[in-house]
Amino acid sequence: MTEKKAQPSDFDWNDLGFEYHDLPYRYRAYYKAGQWNAGGLETSSTLPVHEAATGLHYGQNIFEGLKAYRRKDGGVNLFRPDMNAARIQRSADRLLMAEFPQEQFVEALKEVVKANQDFVPPYGTGATLYLRPFEIGNGPVVGVHPADEYVFEVYATPVGAYYKGGLTPTAYVTNSYDRAAHGGTGQAKAGGNYAASMLPGKEAHEAGYSDVVYLDPRLHENIEELGSANFFGITKDGRFLTPKSPSILPSVTKYSLLALAEEMGLQPEETTISINDLDQFAEAGAMGTAAVISPVGSITHNGKKHVFYSETEVGPWTQKLYDRLTAIQNGDEPGPEGWVVDVPLK
Ligand SMILES: Cc1ncc(COP(=O)(O)O)c(C=O)c1O
Repeated sequence: MTEKKAQPSDFDWNDLGFEYHDLPYRYRAYYKAGQWNAGGLETSSTLPVHEAATGLHYGQNIFEGLKAYRRKDGGVNLFRPDMNAARIQRSADRLLMAEFPQEQFVEALKEVVKANQDFVPPYGTGATLYLRPFEIGNGPVVGVHPADEYVFEVYATPVGAYYKGGLTPTAYVTNSYDRAAHGGTGQAKAGGNYAASMLPGKEAHEAGYSDVVYLDPRLHENIEELGSANFFGITKDGRFLTPKSPSILPSVTKYSLLALAEEMGLQPEETTISINDLDQFAEAGAMGTAAVISPVGSITHNGKKHVFYSETEVGPWTQKLYDRLTAIQNGDEPGPEGWVVDVPLK
């Protein structure tokens, strides 16, 4: 397979999408005979995967997603990488995969950013370097049981600002699909959850919606997630509510916004949110690494459309939360202790 590596001069930093680009370096580590090796940078974007790997056949395949942000002073920040390090270990536990050490995880992120530092987009463009850590089961396994060998990798690709001009509300729709079962793998960032979400997502897009509102898999009554983002609603009496459920992904952005909402005087709460109780909300949004905060203009359920703050304009709380979160990530404002991690570039 030929690999044409990207050059920094290939990019218009103000006009980037969410696409893969083959950067010069990625980090890889290998697990064999019960331990991880030291790992290191590699140049090839093609992985050595055994034809009988559990990562190919039985879904032993987990990942993470986070970003590196260029600061005004030229430095680069990671945002709460310890949360991703912990989450991929919990995903590994659920799928009986080898846990990758948390310190080595953060070091791997730093190495990849440093080695590809010319691809971290400039401050002020809203673009970032997206980091994709992942782990797969490898080696020959025919029966359904966990692999003895694993590969862990972190690759990077520059991605554009989600919003090119202001926060734009989008429309969501419920349907009858589930992305994860009660007691299943919804809390893990497991590849299979995303395979399960592709058909519902396609049908929602074809019907003109930006994505699906997943309802809880037992009752189909309570809000779970919005595509691949968590949901929040801000009530008319100043509460910041987000669903509590065993089948949703514990989002780093969600836990960050729960803290920032409280800082701003909102009352944060993880709780059950019925799809039939949307009238309580003055504003609603989706939150996640890719979308940051995305205002939800409307949710259509059983053919009936519920509009939140506005279908065309972002609400004041949503805008305030977005501004505060991105100011911390970009290093413009200090955030809570330990949220921002500097990447040494020399
Ligand atoms: C299903 C799902 N929910 C929520 C999120 C948001 O999580 P985070 O804020 O950690 O990116 C993601 C993205 O990672 C996701 O894939």
